[in-house]
Amino acid sequence: MRTEKVTIHTLQKKKAASDKITMLTCYDATFARLLDDAGVDILLVGDSLGMVVQGHATTLPVTLDEMIYHTRAVMRGVRRAQVVGDMPFMSYQTSIEEAMRAAGRLVKEGGAEAVKLEGGAQHAELVRRLVASGIPVMGHIGLTPQSFHQLGGFKVQGRGEGAARKLVEDARTLEEAGAYALVLEGIPLELGKEITEEVAIPTIGIGAGAGTDGQVLVIYDLLGMNEDFKPKFVRRYENFAVRIRTAVDEYCDDVRAGRFPSEDEAFTANVPKAATPARKVASVSALTFAGGCAASPDEEAAAADGALYSTVTVRAD
Ligand code: KIV
Repeated sequence: MRTEKVTIHTLQKKKAASDKITMLTCYDATFARLLDDAGVDILLVGDSLGMVVQGHATTLPVTLDEMIYHTRAVMRGVRRAQVVGDMPFMSYQTSIEEAMRAAGRLVKEGGAEAVKLEGGAQHAELVRRLVASGIPVMGHIGLTPQSFHQLGGFKVQGRGEGAARKLVEDARTLEEAGAYALVLEGIPLELGKEITEEVAIPTIGIGAGAGTDGQVLVIYDLLGMNEDFKPKFVRRYENFAVRIRTAVDEYCDDVRAGRFPSEDEAFTANVPKAATPARKVASVSALTFAGGCAASPDEEAAAADGALYSTVTVRAD
C-alpha cells in the first residue's frame, strides 16, 4: 500500500515525469478512507457538495463553516492523499483580508493542506498573498460554477479565439502568482492541452479532454449516484443509484417479512464467556474491524463488557 504523503512537490514531480494525477471530490471520512486506500492523489472537498450532498441547484449557497466541517471530516479518513479545501462563493471575492481569513480557517480549523479558488488574473494578488503566507493555492479556470449566473449556466468556456487566449493568459498569471496547480473545467480539449503545455504547474481537467496532467471527477458522478445526471464528460464506473435502491428494497422486504434480524444478528440474555461473544462482536462490526479477522483483545474486552461493538481503529498497517 502507498503511504508516502502527497504534497505539492509530489504533484510537480508527477508532471515532470508525465505521470497522470488522479483527483476526486470527497466530502466525508468514510469516502476519504476508501479513496485514500485506492491511491487517489488528491481529495478535493469541493463546494459541489452544495449540489450532490445538500441538494442545491448550484454551489452558491455553500458557506465557509460548511466547507470547514466537511474538510475536517475528510481529514479524519486520510493518510496519503493531499486534501484541498474549496473556497466557497463570497469567502474570497470581497477583499483580500477576508479571503486570507477564510483560507486561514480552512487550513487551521478544517485541516486543509491547500485551498482552491475559482477565477483567473483578477485573483493574482490574493494568490500571491496566500502563497506568501504558506498556503498552497490551486487555481480553477474555464467553467467556474460560482459564476453560474454570469456565465448563463454550466456552459463550455474558451471556445472562441479571444476566450481561449484569455484563459491561457489567466493560467500564466496564476502560475506566476504562485498557484501550484490548476483545475481546467469545461473547455475544449485542444485548449486543455495548450494550457497544460504552456504552464509548468500541473493541470487537472474536468471536461477538458485527455491532454491535461490529471483528471478530476465528482465522486457521486463517477459512482452513478444520480441517474438523471450524465453529462458528456462524466464516465460512470458504477451504477450505485440502482444498486443502493436494490439493496434497500431487499432490506425493507426482509424487515417486513420478519427475515431481518435473524437469531445470529441478535443478542441473548445469557452472558457468554468472553471468547465466544467476542467473535460475535467481530461479525457485528464487520466494517469496523479490518478484514473481519479473529477477535482482538480489544474486541474481547468490548464483548465481555456487553458493548455492541468497540471503537478499535480500522487501520491494520
Ligand atoms: O467543487 C468541485 O467539486 C469542483 C470540481 C468539480 C473541480 O470544483
